Amino acid sequence: MPRLRTVYRCQECGTASPKWVGRCPGCGEWSSLVEEVEEARPATLTAPPNGAGAVADRPVPIADVDAGEWDHRATGVAEVDRVLGGGLVPGSVTLLGGEPGIGKSTLLLQVLAAVAATGRRTLLVTGEESKQQVRLRAERLGALDPTLLLQSETVLPHVVAAIEDTRADLVVVDSIQTVFDPELGSAPGSVAQVRECAAQLVRLAKHRGTTIVLVGHVTKEGALAGPRVLEHVVDTVLSFEGDRHHALRLLRAVKHRFGSTSELGLFEMVDAGLQEVPDPSALFLGDRHAGAPGSAVVPTMEGHRPLLVEVQGLVAPSSLAMPRRSVQGVDGNRVALLLAVLERRCRLSMAGADVYVSAVGGVRVVEPGADLAIALALVSSLADYPLPHDVVACGEIGLAGEVRQVAHTERRLTEAARLGFTRAVVPTSAPDVPGLELMRVPSLDVALDAVGLVKALDSKERG
Ligand code: TYD
Ligand code: MG
Repeated sequence: MPRLRTVYRCQECGTASPKWVGRCPGCGEWSSLVEEVEEARPATLTAPPNGAGAVADRPVPIADVDAGEWDHRATGVAEVDRVLGGGLVPGSVTLLGGEPGIGKSTLLLQVLAAVAATGRRTLLVTGEESKQQVRLRAERLGALDPTLLLQSETVLPHVVAAIEDTRADLVVVDSIQTVFDPELGSAPGSVAQVRECAAQLVRLAKHRGTTIVLVGHVTKEGALAGPRVLEHVVDTVLSFEGDRHHALRLLRAVKHRFGSTSELGLFEMVDAGLQEVPDPSALFLGDRHAGAPGSAVVPTMEGHRPLLVEVQGLVAPSSLAMPRRSVQGVDGNRVALLLAVLERRCRLSMAGADVYVSAVGGVRVVEPGADLAIALALVSSLADYPLPHDVVACGEIGLAGEVRQVAHTERRLTEAARLGFTRAVVPTSAPDVPGLELMRVPSLDVALDAVGLVKALDSKERG
């Protein structure tokens, strides 16, 4: 009979406390502690159940360690493989987080179907939807492969048994929050359950070389629900994002033990499921209303690929004592800095105005390379004068108002030229790019002049 004890565990970060407190000592969240009963374990180190750890590791010189290559196995869904740096690694555990309804189940069903189509055994453990529901969806997605097995189960030992029986290469558990181990005292869905179940699945994956993908829900704050602790347990954390009102979905790696976290995968949710977006720039600029004041296009880099994004600025008279500063998809601190630079270096004050800045299409553009475009969009709105429709702008702006170079300028500009832009406002160091006329500017005020904004502001003042 295991000895049970009561602890109070934070449902946000997993910190345990022997008594209830109003505020979590770990993450500072209020009223997040919930009573849980768990098995009191001896504090001595014991070998994990699969026998690993029975033999002590011998320290060796670092240079003697076999570097090896990670054995990425392509899933066949190109955008997923791009984010994972080639595919899923056997024996690894990946956590896919995202808001409800964003398309996690759809994405993973497509991944399972693609892997099953290559003849590998796959298993989908569904704790949220019935088998019928999954079948209906699979039918619509064309994913009725005989090597794709389906199990509707929430009891962990049954899931483990199924993984062992089917000897599946790839297992998806949708979702980890629905799985529970009856051996544990705490309620299904609690942090203790989720963490322990995930830990058992990780051990199983390492032991058998099975690739496991766990679906995890996120809270409204964007944290993976409760088990932030899970992020430490798994090898890879993917986040599936997007605005539910837009069709665009972004897949990015938040943590990845087998590669970089800088790649971005893009999908569009259509009737036939998630479609890969091979030409994202065209998609982002699709709804652009060229010729409107307050709009500028910036060639940004997402991972290793250039992406053209429209940024918009709106400067409106304010009736508030503290005018509003509202940003969406861009860095609020950068915008504050740009407003200060515009005021001090360009003599353009927006202190009495509400200022809104957003990146269009549900993307996030947080790199300083977008500074110049944001500043131009704001001044364009202030002057009520549109930027030329065939111009892109990229450059970081320094505190002295200077326009600084950004990485991969040539790649960015080549993409702009490909999409039909003919002119670019760039730092003085920018290299020539065929098909693009460069306006090399040393500072922000010169940039404003180059696109006609200085003249526009003058005539607005006079008129
Ligand atoms: P789902 O994968 O169930 O989201 P999650 O698992 O993240 O909660 O997908 C939810 C939405 O996707 C659903 O509201 C309908 C939409 N959808 C489509 O538009 N087309 C499709 O082919 C599918 C399968 C879903
Ligand atoms: Mg789902």
